[in-house]
Amino acid sequence: MIKLNMGNNKNNFEELISNLSMLKPTKEPYYYSDNLILYNDNCLEVLANIPENSIDMIFADPPYLLSNNGFTCQNGRRVAVNKGKWDQSNGFEEDLAFHNVWITECRRILKPEGTIWISGTYHNIYQCGYLLQKNNFHILNDVAWFKPNAAPNLSCRFFTASHETLLWARKEKKAKHTFNYESMKNGCFPEDKIKKENAQMRSVWHIPTAGKDEKEFGRHPTQKPLSLLNRIILASTKAEDIILDPFSGGGTTGAACLSVGGRYCIGIEIDREYCKLSVEKFRNMQGRSLVSFETLT
Ligand SMILES: C[S@@+](CC[C@H](N)C(=O)[O-])C[C@H]1O[C@@H](n2cnc3c(N)ncnc32)[C@H](O)[C@@H]1O
Repeated sequence: MIKLNMGNNKNNFEELISNLSMLKPTKEPYYYSDNLILYNDNCLEVLANIPENSIDMIFADPPYLLSNNGFTCQNGRRVAVNKGKWDQSNGFEEDLAFHNVWITECRRILKPEGTIWISGTYHNIYQCGYLLQKNNFHILNDVAWFKPNAAPNLSCRFFTASHETLLWARKEKKAKHTFNYESMKNGCFPEDKIKKENAQMRSVWHIPTAGKDEKEFGRHPTQKPLSLLNRIILASTKAEDIILDPFSGGGTTGAACLSVGGRYCIGIEIDREYCKLSVEKFRNMQGRSLVSFETLT
């Protein structure tokens, strides 16, 4: 395993970039730019090669493991809910064991004051929450991401699922994590129409699902909206932090790092098609910062 010198990462931009390029796991990166690396690989293999205590924040949107031939509604049409082979459940115990491996690895590579966000639905979030606690993470919040434009429920036999849960946890109970409280309080997030001027940000976030404009380079079935990841990064990281996404999908976390600016991002995605569309997205965004951190502080 490579030893990474993270001592000067806040002051030495250049050193960080070269440190990131040293993170060479089993394969060469699929894509590498100044502040963004994407591996087309199984995250379990890549994570095992990342030095311990080296990552500031992890955003993980693991497989929901719900693709078992159900139906949903899209644009008024009944469509199969199957998202891909990667989203099929292998049964309760095997799913739990899978989540345990990557969560354990995430704990090892996080800095003591580092935090992890896990996004999920009732299909997987309870297993992940249980494992966070079992692995001695300290849970900070469970945020409800409310989707005002969620698809209707076709069976009409239970409530329409219209939110996902985001667990936010710190590696060490006593360490001091990053929370940009003032930015969140005063930040201009137009999606939150109910937010009052200068009020504390609450744990229910109103954010529509990713629109067509976020899918111009291809579609990922569970793509998160850019504004959700922008908010997470603005809330829980600072300039020059290293952010890792072990299930990067259509590259929303990388795109948000580019959008916010000043962060480093390591993405891992097992499906080459999703890597391809992520890179097209990154190339299109590179060089233009869409959200300025400074304007929110
Ligand atoms: C829920 S999606 C993530 C979506 C992503 N947050 C986005 O906004 O596009 C999960 C992704 O994990 C990938 N995946 C599944 N198992 C994996 C593994 N073992 N290693 C790396 N990626 C994996 C899937 O191909 C899928 O793209």
